[in-house]
Amino acid sequence: MSEQQSTITSGLVENRVFPPSEAFVKAARVSGMPAYDALCAEAAQDFEGFWARLARENLNWTKPFTQTLDESQAPFYKWFADGEINASANCLDRHMGTAVENKTAVIFEADDGTVTKTSYKELLARVSQFANALKAHGIQKGDRVLIYMPMTLEGVIAMQACARLGAIHSVVFGGFSAKAVQERIIDVGAVAVITSNYQMRGGKELPLKAIVDEGMALGGCEAVKTVFVYQRTATACPMLAGRDKTFSEVLAGQSADCAPVPVGAEHPLFILYTSGSTGKPKGVQHSTGGYLLWAKVTMDWTFDLKPEDVFWCTADIGWITGHSYVAYGPLAAGATQIIFEGIPTFPNAGRFWQMIERHKCSIFYTAPTAIRSLIKAAEGDAKVHPDRSDLSSLRILGSVGEPINPEAWMWYHKHVGHEKCPIVDTFWQTETGGHMMTPLPGATPLVPGSCTLPLPGIIAAIVDEVGNDIPNGTGGILVVKRPWPSMIRTIWNDPERFKKSYFPEEMGGKLYLAGDGAIRSADRAYFRITGRIDDVLNVSGHRMGTMEIESALVAKTDLVAEAAVVGRPDDVTGEAICAFVVLKRPCPSGDEAKAIAKELRDWVAKEIGPIAKPKDIRFGENLPKTRSGKIMRRLLRSLAKGETITQDTSTLENPAILSQLGQTY
Ligand code: WTA
Repeated sequence: MSEQQSTITSGLVENRVFPPSEAFVKAARVSGMPAYDALCAEAAQDFEGFWARLARENLNWTKPFTQTLDESQAPFYKWFADGEINASANCLDRHMGTAVENKTAVIFEADDGTVTKTSYKELLARVSQFANALKAHGIQKGDRVLIYMPMTLEGVIAMQACARLGAIHSVVFGGFSAKAVQERIIDVGAVAVITSNYQMRGGKELPLKAIVDEGMALGGCEAVKTVFVYQRTATACPMLAGRDKTFSEVLAGQSADCAPVPVGAEHPLFILYTSGSTGKPKGVQHSTGGYLLWAKVTMDWTFDLKPEDVFWCTADIGWITGHSYVAYGPLAAGATQIIFEGIPTFPNAGRFWQMIERHKCSIFYTAPTAIRSLIKAAEGDAKVHPDRSDLSSLRILGSVGEPINPEAWMWYHKHVGHEKCPIVDTFWQTETGGHMMTPLPGATPLVPGSCTLPLPGIIAAIVDEVGNDIPNGTGGILVVKRPWPSMIRTIWNDPERFKKSYFPEEMGGKLYLAGDGAIRSADRAYFRITGRIDDVLNVSGHRMGTMEIESALVAKTDLVAEAAVVGRPDDVTGEAICAFVVLKRPCPSGDEAKAIAKELRDWVAKEIGPIAKPKDIRFGENLPKTRSGKIMRRLLRSLAKGETITQDTSTLENPAILSQLGQTY
């Protein structure tokens, strides 16, 4: 694809445009902008008919639905509510007796490089057998099961087995702490936990089961009757007799046939915790029918999936991307996918490129943070440069989780895509279940740093604080004006918080508030995400609530009096966490400050997880506050960036504090 200069530069700073090649357009599932426009027009003319058609064409229903969208309890929307379906049957059983049956479903590459391939038929047998094991331990439809697993085939099997029984899984990323595991077990009301003795990352064996034990020992987890332990490594881990069972123990003698349990389309498939702007993480509840529909359709549209593709999404199953584009979407679409256990820098930072070559990956989907860190590595060491690998199998590249800066986009385009692979910059969220705005590879002209246009059926807009539309070229608040099938259904145990967070009354109660700011270009009406407008940070594509980190810090009651957390831009991780702390002792400096900062970082790692550790901790006698006692976060954000304060500080009660907090040690 060649670069085509746009003459119009207003609205977006970026003016490079990359239209898809003619050959690409011709072969694509959504072929050219007229095909995209036709789908949008279909949705505009008959919104429900559009979604009903997709749901009938893309999913197998045990009982067909007669009603498409039920808005009677809005914003608690229901989709395909009288239909019955099973998610696992739609990912596995549906392929039996077709050409996909013996196709490789998963190419698993372990941390140490060992490769195993599993066909759809074998995967169905393994999922069924594990589902039978769960059933034998009393797990049934509606039960909640917490999954704390490494990035392995067994993690996907655990999720699929739950779905097969209609049990609701809640996956917790392996980088979260014992306390985070405990809190989620309690909030979700888990009756069982599926974990692994250890996980392998970068050649290191790290405990998982021990963290579950530690979390459960904190109390309140009595409802958990069984802890299933996958033995990833040969090292033994403590096992509690009666409660803890190894996979081999529970699988012994179980049949490889297990009838999928049909559930209502609205039955929760899973609950996934994510950070909000206030309080504790929220349990985002997703449906079965609507969720799966969008996971399948976006595989076809966004990734233009063809039978011969080898798809690789590098996200962990602990995040929404790993749910929709590892555990469900690729399987529902009958794709061959790569699952990678390890980290991109082990044994060297060329691992991703070498794996693309080794497995002839054709669609590669990763996060801007990974790209930026691999750019850095490649610039420092020619041996790990993507140019050293044969990447000719690639045809589509994807980006997800955070804004991709145009420089990183251009590097990805040039060195990984060799200027022939469209880059789909997919904007979406845990709450949206699947892609919302993204270029279509065989249709949309690309603009670096822009997620371009909403998918057909997604009615996105930019509005002001009270919900009025804002003209193109002016920044505002990103909303979605109509419900869509894979949207969040509620916050588990907290429907009021769901309403307040996503359908605020101030904006009329009907608009879905994404929590991001955005601007549409004046020329093409393309969307560009400008970042969160709430107190949520995006660090390496991981969502973190500033309040969550603040509460963790002040929970260290022997040391911390007060804390405020803000984000500051970071070249690699997008944003970095910066904490301003007032101690219950005189403000430290030098080595003492360094030692206390380390103690606080370790504390946050224990309270939330290592991913929440502040990169920067500053100490002061106080925080900058207005006379009414409100912390002035905009000043903290400037200090975190190392800027000299030029803003108006006349409302500040204690201006002297700024120079103290500006100091590093
Ligand atoms: C951000 C990840 C810019 C955004 C799938 C959103 C993005 C949050 C993009 C959701 C993108 C995600 N461009 N920003 N392509 N994709 N974001 O829930 O701020 O982990 O609100 O879901 O990530 O993060 P979450």
